Amino acid sequence: MMTDTRTPLSAITKFKSAEEPLVCLTAYSAPMATILDAHCNLLLVGDSVGTALYGMDNTLGVTLDMIINHTKAVMRGSKKAFILADMPYGTYEESPEQALENARRLMDETGCGALKLEGDGTMAPTVELLVKNDIPVIAHIGLRPQMVVQEGGYKIKGKTDEQAKALLDDALALEKAGAFAILIEGTIESVSAQITQALKVPTIGIGASPSCDGQILVIDDLIGMLDMRPAKFVKQYGNLKEDIAAMAGQYAADVRARKFPAAEHTYTIKASPLCKAS
Ligand code: KIV
Repeated sequence: MMTDTRTPLSAITKFKSAEEPLVCLTAYSAPMATILDAHCNLLLVGDSVGTALYGMDNTLGVTLDMIINHTKAVMRGSKKAFILADMPYGTYEESPEQALENARRLMDETGCGALKLEGDGTMAPTVELLVKNDIPVIAHIGLRPQMVVQEGGYKIKGKTDEQAKALLDDALALEKAGAFAILIEGTIESVSAQITQALKVPTIGIGASPSCDGQILVIDDLIGMLDMRPAKFVKQYGNLKEDIAAMAGQYAADVRARKFPAAEHTYTIKASPLCKAS
């Protein structure tokens, strides 16, 4: 009998104030999930898939069907990591009931462990309804990429006392509503430290300082698949874009010089079966 080795939600919440931080990355495909599974506690099928894989300018065009398909791929590719999927823009903001209908579809069709949605304290009733219906939720506060058009860009949050207080209030309201973790993006250190201290649930930071209980990055940023200069909070561990360009260039040169395919890549008939039989 096959045993379930998938990390349970209870193992994720244990990272609150733990000695070792929670390690998270985004993943969108089965092969990438297989690679990252050995290294991460949690993989997020983020709506950053829109910019990372589809060439979109922002995440607003990502659909529920896209997230469902990529989450299925990540579930197939991984065995161990806890899988979190994003609720895309336009699938949950209208009403808690709209959110529940789409959240149920996302959970039922993919079998993922939990959902993430962006929002401030006003999203608390939505979180509460999902949690009441056994759908675990992570709330994403601070810099919210789905607000990029409304706010005219990606803006770091918590710079004023007023903003810092609002963020803390949001985090407390979302925790009270039942969110099992809070993801904080693009927020100054003192604010994420204060939020992390005030909450009983873990915080996961992206551009939110080492004071959070865990860290997440977009995988394509980390491996150097970006078109633009990375944000200050990104650490690029390699330059896969340059590596792929070098490999593709070498292939093109080999084809043009008729060096590829070589004999070892070519099918030939060694001996006729008729000759052998006689
Ligand atoms: O969609 C995403 O990748 C995210 C990260 C920025 C955390 O939400």
